[in-house]
Amino acid sequence: MNQNIGTEEAIKRWDSFADTYSANHTEQGDLHKEVFLNPTLLSLMEPVRNKNILDAGCGEGYLSRMLARSEATVTAVDYSSRMIEIAKGRTPNDLLIDYRQGNCEDLYCLEDKRFDLIVSNMVIQDLANYEKAFQEMYRLLVDGGCFIFSILHPCFVTPESGWEKTKDGKKLHWNVDKYFYEGVYEQGLGDKEKMLFFHRTLTSYINTLIKTGFILERIIEPKPSKEMLEKYPSFEEDFRCADFIVFKLKK
Ligand SMILES: C[S@@+](CC[C@H](N)C(=O)[O-])C[C@H]1O[C@@H](n2cnc3c(N)ncnc32)[C@H](O)[C@@H]1O
Repeated sequence: MNQNIGTEEAIKRWDSFADTYSANHTEQGDLHKEVFLNPTLLSLMEPVRNKNILDAGCGEGYLSRMLARSEATVTAVDYSSRMIEIAKGRTPNDLLIDYRQGNCEDLYCLEDKRFDLIVSNMVIQDLANYEKAFQEMYRLLVDGGCFIFSILHPCFVTPESGWEKTKDGKKLHWNVDKYFYEGVYEQGLGDKEKMLFFHRTLTSYINTLIKTGFILERIIEPKPSKEMLEKYPSFEEDFRCADFIVFKLKK
């Protein structure tokens, strides 16, 4: 793929996909967020009451609303103007969230050391300049503040990965290819939308976080809990490999 394709094109596609994407989201997000990401993200957070939190790449805003309902002071940024419109529309008047349109690679509109916690749920693999985004997150955190983010697991979700199936559709194993490719690739989400993702190796992620100045506190590769498996038995297959990885970092 043309390596000059970057964040601007990715956001154009998010703008046109925003309504379809948001239609899948309840106040728990979508199914994967309910099963894997919310329990993990929330388990990594200290109590959020009265904390200044940035939701970086908030989408339609379910996580911002969850945090605001727990009495955090929430600023929510997304580069897609349509996502911000939807997020505002889904937020009741009594829930005060400061929604802003902005690029996580350059949040000049927000001053240094403004946040105790930054969460970014499934966003970093969607933007081109992750080095710059990490630098911005570092700049925006108070000393001792935390940055928690989830991404597609870069070891398993690569530009060419997917189930190897028998002719009758039985899943044999998960194939991974092009792991060491770093850059943009296209992937279908939903029926027709081709979204842009940016792949990097696990080494690149970790070394870039360290170079930015972060201290790595924890990594979690979420698996479904017993309760979630009882509710959604089809997630049994997620014990075979990890779709997501979640990092907790300290400034
Ligand atoms: C997979 S969605 C996740 C949305 C939300 N965090 C959630 O968990 O529902 C990715 C979001 O990141 C936003 N995004 C992508 N690149 C961005 C950037 N450079 N700056 C801010 N938002 C960005 C997209 O517009 C989209 O809303």
